[in-house]
Amino acid sequence: MEFSTLFKGLAVSSLSVVLTMATFGPRRAQAQIQPDTTQMPWMNKALSADQRADMVLGRMTLDEKIQLVHGTGWGVLRKGDPVPARSNFGAGFVPGIDRLHIPDINMADSAVGIRMAALQSRYATLLPSTLGAASSWNPDAAFLYGSVIGREARAQGFNMSIGGGVDITREPRNGRNFEYAGEDPVLAGTMTGELERGVKSEHVMSDIKHYALNDQETGRTVVNVLLDKRSMRESDLLAFEIAIGIAKPSAVMCSYNLVDGDHACENDYLLNQVLKKDFKFKGWVISDWSATHSTVKAALNGLDQDMPGDDNYFSAPLKKAVEDGQVPMARLNDMVHRILRSMFDAGVVDDPPVRSVVNPFRGRDDAQHIAEESIVLLKNSGNVLPLKASASTSIALIGSHADVGVLSGGGSAQVDAPGGNAIDPKPGPSIWGQPVYFPSSPLRYIQAKSPRSHVQYIDGKDNAAAAKLAKESSLAIVFVNQWMSEGRDAPTLSLPNNQDALVNAVAAANPNTIVVLETGGPVTMPWADHVKGIVEMWYPGIGGAQALANILFGDVNPSGKLPVTFAKSDDQLPHPVVPGMDVKHGGKTVGDDQHHEVRPFDLKYTAGAAVGYKWFESTHRQPLFPFGFGLSYTTFGYSGLKVDDASRTAQFTVKNTGSREGTEIAELYVALPSAAKENYKRLVAWKRVKLAPGESKTVTLPMNPLYLSIFDTAKDAWKLLPGDYKVMAGASSSDTPLNNTLHIKP
Ligand code: BGC
Repeated sequence: MEFSTLFKGLAVSSLSVVLTMATFGPRRAQAQIQPDTTQMPWMNKALSADQRADMVLGRMTLDEKIQLVHGTGWGVLRKGDPVPARSNFGAGFVPGIDRLHIPDINMADSAVGIRMAALQSRYATLLPSTLGAASSWNPDAAFLYGSVIGREARAQGFNMSIGGGVDITREPRNGRNFEYAGEDPVLAGTMTGELERGVKSEHVMSDIKHYALNDQETGRTVVNVLLDKRSMRESDLLAFEIAIGIAKPSAVMCSYNLVDGDHACENDYLLNQVLKKDFKFKGWVISDWSATHSTVKAALNGLDQDMPGDDNYFSAPLKKAVEDGQVPMARLNDMVHRILRSMFDAGVVDDPPVRSVVNPFRGRDDAQHIAEESIVLLKNSGNVLPLKASASTSIALIGSHADVGVLSGGGSAQVDAPGGNAIDPKPGPSIWGQPVYFPSSPLRYIQAKSPRSHVQYIDGKDNAAAAKLAKESSLAIVFVNQWMSEGRDAPTLSLPNNQDALVNAVAAANPNTIVVLETGGPVTMPWADHVKGIVEMWYPGIGGAQALANILFGDVNPSGKLPVTFAKSDDQLPHPVVPGMDVKHGGKTVGDDQHHEVRPFDLKYTAGAAVGYKWFESTHRQPLFPFGFGLSYTTFGYSGLKVDDASRTAQFTVKNTGSREGTEIAELYVALPSAAKENYKRLVAWKRVKLAPGESKTVTLPMNPLYLSIFDTAKDAWKLLPGDYKVMAGASSSDTPLNNTLHIKP
């Protein structure tokens, strides 16, 4: 907030002002107000966030209340729309109440880093995709991820981050999977919860989105999702329940789609009954941008804030609805209370952001560290990896602009690349719909690791030329990519642009071929048997090339494991074609950013809660690579699974049976007794175990009753069934050598 605006409406005598100025001049000054708490008792930090919110609420006029429950329009997001004077040029802006010392809310899109920095000559760190970070299975890495976002949001003057995507991978071709955390509700919920806890730890308001069942982009504003309540609670909603429980987020963003006939942003079941009552969510429900469809219905069914606000549902029409008694004042007060208490709770009133320069080196180091834990080694035939740095050899790098950069995901998760798109550097912001590469060059870092080798790059546009270079080289590394973005789904799991043919051509020319994948989610690999090495690096962020070089040369031993199942083909999925993608409209097949044009359609999720590996197991399908799978340069052994019924814990030993230090993600699964009527196992716990060669460690893992329960729809409550639970431990969802039984008494 600007110095001058802070004084508006406040008696100067009631304030003492402390200025902390990095740069002088009236527009740059950051003021910390020490208000007179006799006039503003809510500034007393000893009170609870709820008490403070109620005190402010008691002083607010109806107009002030209405002002807080909607934004001021698309602003910077839409060309030609006005940008409010005090907006920080983020995705959303809600003016504060100066006279009550309630700050503006400046929201930054920030799924994988702060969006739209270039517009304001600012810098933001691009982190690995959140799906990538979920491959670390490391809650500490997720917390660090969130704290980078929080730190840089603050430095750029934002007090709210609107990331936190936790929609599970029901649809592996979903364009936004890279912004989410995979197919398992416990893993996704835990990682996203920790991430958003990290955001809030920096005194920035946090968010979890898109609530709920927004599992595909095709027809996202018109698709009506149908799923029975038990399945919903045990899958998609469980991910939200866990994330919200951990993060205690400031806001939850309701999604564009409909669920059981009602839009998510006016859905009584989702918002009032589940989110606010069952999950005990205390923050506010914020609409996705233009996902509000009514005034009275939305307000009564649980929406607290309409964004970006230009549809005018929660401005004058809401005021009138309150005056007419259609929306009780108590409900408006509840909306406002939720917003205010979240401001106090996150610390944005007591400790507002102070603009400063983002430290790109610190951000890069953090991003690289997370990437190193996120990269998944999928195949390593004949120990082709790690490469020897001291060797004097010839290496062909092929495709995906590996000479200049690494790929990033698009849409509202797009972070601006420093210096512009590495493949076409021009100053200015990223352009929606155009893939952006970040200046982290695999060629440069691979060459730096192996100075005596001759490393050459070829773009891969001509398969014959690529094969020729591969043939002349001792080793070929083919980079393949799948660019994904909000607003569109991948039409198939196949790599786009005929890249399978490129890999086949290179593999036929050189038996020492390694494939590096830069994908938003799972893809098929018809060439998997013909190459020696496969490395999934996702969208690896600004430290991606360094992280990859460290993995390829063994300075870092890979430890990531897949948070999603990789199918062999689209036919193995519950929906072989993305639902709605085959709908024709105006002569076009929908699926390429045409979501507004698709006619409404029902999408029945017949797989129920059997998402991802659960689907594969229950239908006896063999995937290409299973959930939880990932290799290391060393090997691990598992032994001695003990189960303690009283404490509901499982204990087993993991041993490093190879000759290098490494970290193993040890996974614990449980299959419920037959009364549960489910024919798959569930992930219930895991641990990253760091082991020296020959070293063993005993790990003890909890079995959280929530993760063992079924949702009893008749009682509308979770239920822990009595009976025998099969407990399994091992290295992936399809490699669980240890078995034992947990007995739960009636
Ligand atoms: C996206 C949200 C995003 C918002 C603001 C919407 O299109 O679905 O995730 O936060 O735009 O940019």
